[in-house]
Amino acid sequence: MRILFCSSEAVPFAKTGGLADVSGALPKALARLGNEVMLTLPKYKQVGFATERRIQLGQKEFLAVGEKPLRDIEGVQVLFIRQDELYLRDSLYGYPDDAERFILFDKAILAFIKELNWKPDVIHCNDWQTGLIPVYLKTTLNSDPFYKGIATVYTIHNLAYQGNFPPETLHIAGLPEELFSFDKLEFWGQFSFMKGGIVFSDIITTVSPRYAEEIQTKELGAGMEGALSYRRERLRGIINGIDYEVWNPKTDAFLPVHYDVDSLEKKVENKKFLQKEVGLAPKDVPLIGLVSRLASQKGFDILLQAMDELFKLDIQMVILGVGEREIEEKLKEKAKIYEDKFKLFVRFDERLSHLIYGGCDIFLMPSLYEPCGLSQMISMRYGTIPVVREVGGLADSVEEFNPATGEGTGFLFKEYSPVALLEAVKRALTIFGNKNAWKIVQINAMKKDFSWDASARKYVEVYKEAIQICNKEVK
Ligand code: ADP
Ligand code: GLC
Repeated sequence: MRILFCSSEAVPFAKTGGLADVSGALPKALARLGNEVMLTLPKYKQVGFATERRIQLGQKEFLAVGEKPLRDIEGVQVLFIRQDELYLRDSLYGYPDDAERFILFDKAILAFIKELNWKPDVIHCNDWQTGLIPVYLKTTLNSDPFYKGIATVYTIHNLAYQGNFPPETLHIAGLPEELFSFDKLEFWGQFSFMKGGIVFSDIITTVSPRYAEEIQTKELGAGMEGALSYRRERLRGIINGIDYEVWNPKTDAFLPVHYDVDSLEKKVENKKFLQKEVGLAPKDVPLIGLVSRLASQKGFDILLQAMDELFKLDIQMVILGVGEREIEEKLKEKAKIYEDKFKLFVRFDERLSHLIYGGCDIFLMPSLYEPCGLSQMISMRYGTIPVVREVGGLADSVEEFNPATGEGTGFLFKEYSPVALLEAVKRALTIFGNKNAWKIVQINAMKKDFSWDASARKYVEVYKEAIQICNKEVK
């Protein structure tokens, strides 16, 4: 099958969060299953030319830049859309002309595949940035034979980011007036990219079965629950995987000491290294980690409220994250008060994230909502036990440890409150105090299969279904 995978970020080129992990790993997994896959990305400043090479000349080293962008990573062709005026900026998103930037991206992708005469069987779009691709295919381009019969799958990674812009955006996008109605692109008076993806794609997916249910409710539907419930026959939930080549404690180049499920005793060396690295005392107390965008979605309000109680306990904590200013300021205040127990790093730092996954005992994710969440899966792979709120993909991937049966991979809480969070942390600490029991949870967590293989196969099934639906409609 020929698959075009459209995303606004992907590892190893540009990343702000989990979408990049998925867009870096799923296309590779699809290619391993024998599909022909092309990935498209904007050519951001961060992308660098993929054919960059460090070249040694005598004593000196130079960074040489190849003229062509990388065309192939592990069987996946990468097509960069280059438009320096729009994409060569310090950040990926957050500009007043974001609508133009991604309208151009969507239009350019469609123009280039025709130019290259590369007709995919299915186009897999992701999040609001690529939401207009299904719209163009089903409307302005539907009489062009090149585009006929190309199926579309639209994946929602986070319903809260909808790409809603003023109504005039319709004209910039070059779309006809009649599309600006409540059952199409109009959303509370605005023009919505995400609604375009939801209404016009052949199949909609989201990144966990639980989230697929949650987004049809008023509570977590972010205003789109109506449109989603209306199309629920076409809505599927497929849980994400993680890239087992990137996230592997046995080979992780960032870790000072490698380990796996048979050499778990070595993990403590990574803890000592991390403690030293971040400036915490080299003590044998539970070390709790958190790596996350600083966004209200991630539950920082209840965590902040729980901190005074939390730091009465004999624990250490390290948080790595960037994002909302307000959350950053509040965390900084706490880090000042509890400086011998709590270290905060406000930046994006790949290396430190690996050290935290490898070196901590417990990983915290008190999310208000979580479409899937990758951090809890990464931690489990590193034998770092997740304490998470029972919501979305967290509920689908973490199972409460039961000391009586020895089953389970972590600790969960339901109510969104500091009290419930504290209670779950305390349950984890009790088990941590029993070295044998803790080892059992670690082994359970590390043995869970979070590789992409199974989920990639589910996507292939969804693509087939989308192709069938699309072909029926064309006839
Ligand atoms: P989301 O996509 O909502 O941000 P996920 O759990 O799906 O949440 O994915 C987050 C990804 O981003 C993980 O790979 C995590 O390690 C990474 N990440 C988040 N913040 C940082 C940071 N400050 N530095 C390095 N990596 C980060
Ligand atoms: C989003 C979600 C996160 C999910 C990621 C990848 O950013 O917030 O839960 O894991 O996308 O699908």
